[in-house]
Amino acid sequence: MNNLFVKGRNKAIMLAYKSVLKPIFFSMDPENVHDKMVSFGKTLGASSLTRGILRLTFGYTNPVLEQDILGIRFRNPVGLAAGFDKNAELHQILPGVGFGFGELGSITGYPCEGNFKPRLWRLRRSKGLVVYYGLKNKGCEIISNELRTRQFDIPIGISVAMTNCRDNVDVANALNDYAKAFTSFQNIGEYITVNISCPNAEGGQPFVDPEKLNLLLGKLDNIEVKKPVFVKISPDLNPGRIDEILSVLKQHRVHGIICSNLTKKRSNPAIIDGIVPEKGGISGAPVRDLSDNLISYIYKKEKDRFVIIGCGGIFNARDAYKKIRAGASLVQMITGMIFEGPQVISEINMGLVKLLKKDGYRNVKEAVGADVK
Ligand SMILES: Cc1cc2nc3c(=O)[nH]c(=O)nc-3n(C[C@H](O)[C@H](O)[C@H](O)COP(=O)(O)O)c2cc1C
Repeated sequence: MNNLFVKGRNKAIMLAYKSVLKPIFFSMDPENVHDKMVSFGKTLGASSLTRGILRLTFGYTNPVLEQDILGIRFRNPVGLAAGFDKNAELHQILPGVGFGFGELGSITGYPCEGNFKPRLWRLRRSKGLVVYYGLKNKGCEIISNELRTRQFDIPIGISVAMTNCRDNVDVANALNDYAKAFTSFQNIGEYITVNISCPNAEGGQPFVDPEKLNLLLGKLDNIEVKKPVFVKISPDLNPGRIDEILSVLKQHRVHGIICSNLTKKRSNPAIIDGIVPEKGGISGAPVRDLSDNLISYIYKKEKDRFVIIGCGGIFNARDAYKKIRAGASLVQMITGMIFEGPQVISEINMGLVKLLKKDGYRNVKEAVGADVK
């Protein structure tokens, strides 16, 4: 596709989104908008005609963006992060809107209604969301049965977590819950993520504790999977805890790390809204530096031992490029798409090509970790 056409097209969509759609969406209840967008996306993804139209409307491809990572071919490094497509309904539309990969879930051992509403808020000035969903999803049995026979056009990751319920405060139950979800997706998708950093579940984040994490990963090691395993961590960890977690990850079948999930900390200079709900984790711009620092820290220590997926506060190509130069091979996003519009995915990919070329790189891989080498 011609670059001038893509630029003009993206600009027109961005203007329409920011001047018409976004004011309407932002005047409505955030969870209601999220549900409507998922249901609309599911409908658009169901027909090959609408998928083709979407590709023309949002697509952008360039060989500079292609990578082979852990035996998986990625057309571009920008993916949808876990949490937007909780029940795995959007995988058919994701390539059409320009994503290079998508992570579905988080999906838990048992169905879960999530926490009481309200549980999603916007931080308009800080460009973030406060998320208190509490792992709402239909559970691994229903979702894996729906996905089992599906073909995916782009690499799909499945994020698994433990069901948000009182029983799982008991670690033995939580281990079985993770194992149940993990087993259900043994043969579905290109990679699997173990989410140990949901800030909104009963009992907190027990598997941030190295001993418990060791038990969890030991249990999952015994379940046969032929695809890479990622672990998603919190941006609020101190260096000592990160080191402990890394040493546990190295003892197990873990190929990559997602940096990062939502932040719980309110004492963050990037949070500039006057009122911030007490409950929940924060996404978007307030996570950006935390995630960048986590990526650099891990890449500096471990180099290529783990594939890093950078996530948190990506709103444009520069944000994505910074994460890549800090050590991320791939990036993921949600909040930037909500604030900037769906054309932002192709804007980021196009912008990345420009930034890579400007710095003399022939492809994304060459830039990974450039700022910490
Ligand atoms: C509405 C919403 C729901 C989320 N749910 C999950 C989830 O179920 N599992 C997960 O690993 N991360 C979840 N996250 C965290 C995101 O995957 C991501 O780590 C975080 O939002 C930072 O990226 P962003 O700034 O691009 O949104 C959620 C985020 C949002 C905004």
